Amino acid sequence: MQTRKLRNGVEIPYIGYGTVQPLQRFDDEGMKEFHEVFIAALTTAIECGYRHIDTAQMYYNEADIGEVVGRGIVPRSELFLTTKLDNRIGTYEDTLRSFDESCRKLGTEYLDMFLIHWPNPIHHRDRWQQRNAECWRAFEKLYEEKRVRAIGVSNFRPRHFDALQKTANICPMVDQIRLYPGDASLDNPTLEWCRQNGLLLEGYSPLGLGGVLKEPKLMALSGKYAKSPAQLCLKWSVQKGYIPLPKSTTPERIRANIDIEDFELSAEDMAEMDRLPSVLEDDRDPDTATW
Ligand code: A2P
Repeated sequence: MQTRKLRNGVEIPYIGYGTVQPLQRFDDEGMKEFHEVFIAALTTAIECGYRHIDTAQMYYNEADIGEVVGRGIVPRSELFLTTKLDNRIGTYEDTLRSFDESCRKLGTEYLDMFLIHWPNPIHHRDRWQQRNAECWRAFEKLYEEKRVRAIGVSNFRPRHFDALQKTANICPMVDQIRLYPGDASLDNPTLEWCRQNGLLLEGYSPLGLGGVLKEPKLMALSGKYAKSPAQLCLKWSVQKGYIPLPKSTTPERIRANIDIEDFELSAEDMAEMDRLPSVLEDDRDPDTATW
């Protein structure tokens, strides 16, 4: 799988498998199905070529991922594993402990990337700057000890970076935010901040949670390129220089979503996709979200 280079030279596969699952789809009885569906989908993903898996402590699937990784479909060293810090965690010590716990569940000695999941969680709203500073100090220690190959953040905006910079020794290497064609929040100073400071952008919900796929203009382009609307969205993301993290539990879609290397979108069609309607609510303000 092709890669991109992070600021520290570490190579990251150019597309990843997104693993957040809508838990509300499953009642208590259905949790067994939740795990089974996920394990089958992840197995398919690795078998058909995904080498980059994106999870989080709050996705409740690290142990499932550990189970699949432990089967050794490919060697651990060929996989790029990312997890993200639980919003409830707010201290240096707890960050280190949670990292160990993630490694234990994922069945790995080291992680490829660790991200602060949310810049201003409701649990620490009165001290978010201090919380991020403390957690980041733990991230830097883990990085210096080579327990993690890259460190970064998710859902950060320039004001959160500015606050973090006051105490950080290492600048985050990525920001993972929502990025899909037409997203109103693309008109966002965060993109510029990341460009200027050499952070790679990772895009979650690159298909607008599936909502963008029925847009007539996208369907017309799909005919022109003989590629599905989902493949066009992912190619758009890659050509923008983002790392898309599509989610799917459907085997044919999992396969098709990485079959995007044999075509190129023209500049006009990229611009047309930029102008697609924004199908999701405006992105949630990290400082007022209720989590
Ligand atoms: P499913 O899991 O049933 O395949 P996003 O990546 O933007 O978060 O979107 C995820 C949603 O898009 C899921 O509901 C997923 O459904 C759907 N999806 C993923 N890949 C495709 C595809 N190639 N075609 C249509 N829908 C897709």
